[in-house]
Amino acid sequence: MSEQTPSADAASKVLQPVRWTDGALSLLDQRLLPEETVYLILKTPQDVWDAIRELKVRGAPAIGIAAAFGVVLGVQDFSGDVRELAAEAVRHAEHLATSRPTAVNLFWALDRMKARANASAQAGAATPDAIEALLAEAQQIQAEDEETNRKIGEFALTLFRDGMGVLTHCNAGGLATSKYGTALAPFYLALEQGIALKVFADETRPVLQGARLTAFELQQAGVDVTLITDNMAAHVMSKGWVQAVIVGTDRVAANGDVANKIGTYGVAVMAKAHNIPFYVACPLSTIDLSTPTGADIPIEERHPDEVTQGFGKRTAPAGVKVYNPAFDVTPNELVTAIVTERGIVRAPYAEGLRQLFEG
Ligand code: MRU
Repeated sequence: MSEQTPSADAASKVLQPVRWTDGALSLLDQRLLPEETVYLILKTPQDVWDAIRELKVRGAPAIGIAAAFGVVLGVQDFSGDVRELAAEAVRHAEHLATSRPTAVNLFWALDRMKARANASAQAGAATPDAIEALLAEAQQIQAEDEETNRKIGEFALTLFRDGMGVLTHCNAGGLATSKYGTALAPFYLALEQGIALKVFADETRPVLQGARLTAFELQQAGVDVTLITDNMAAHVMSKGWVQAVIVGTDRVAANGDVANKIGTYGVAVMAKAHNIPFYVACPLSTIDLSTPTGADIPIEERHPDEVTQGFGKRTAPAGVKVYNPAFDVTPNELVTAIVTERGIVRAPYAEGLRQLFEG
């Protein structure tokens, strides 16, 4: 048995990415981590749109939460009648939905905000009450996310044993959510319970979410984390140091295909080649039964500079052709299980995922 001293509420040592205080949205600028901790004050929905597009806030649940507060920013001083207010909220929500295309949590959170605004209008609520209800809805989305992630962590931890090596890709931790993260949640709960896990964090080219964010937040919380570059993962697996892989996701299609940060598919192939289970952790809000398969998930393409100048200096010839998809799709047959707040789903996914929603 490995030695691990229990650490109460380890996840609370992680910086919160999104905070609502005194009518303003304060957002951790994740592009500056790990060197600088800067909270930006955002005042308009357009500020939030820009922050999402520029990856100041990133990670599927966190962008949904930020966008929900973005709608509140757009209407909090509104003085027209409640129907006009609802139309204004819907307009802001629809604009915020164009900030990034892949993570379905963004659209899920904005749909909740639109439904809340429309319900207030239908009920003939007073405008100040309808604004209050929108703020309450955004706060509720954030609070539910924390609760959900803790449950995901509890289920995910049942898949791990003391002393195991676990590899993760990208950042699906507290920095990508309200607290705990999805794929990183079991690591925090393991710390609370004195269970020793040895985490390998892929650096995650080109934006380095693994190095800048996962290695940072796990180290801050006291989790045993080792950073590797993406091309070291197969080597580390071949050494026998990894007994499981766990990643987050931006969208799970109805057939169980999983979109996540570019490179995830490669990790799943490597895991299969080494007979290592490949787990995906996500809330129900990331499962999109209206998207039939992974081929139907829109994959964001980002600016070539992320590839050619990602380290702050040019590392490729000027003008070279670049292909820079931000996500890839892991086919369901490579996924050992999907861990949600309602339990662990295994193949056949079409049926298992549908049953999750049926309660
Ligand atoms: O481009 P990003 O940093 O927003 O991509 C984030 C990811 O791919 C995460 O793994 C995913 O959103 C899950 S977050 C709980």
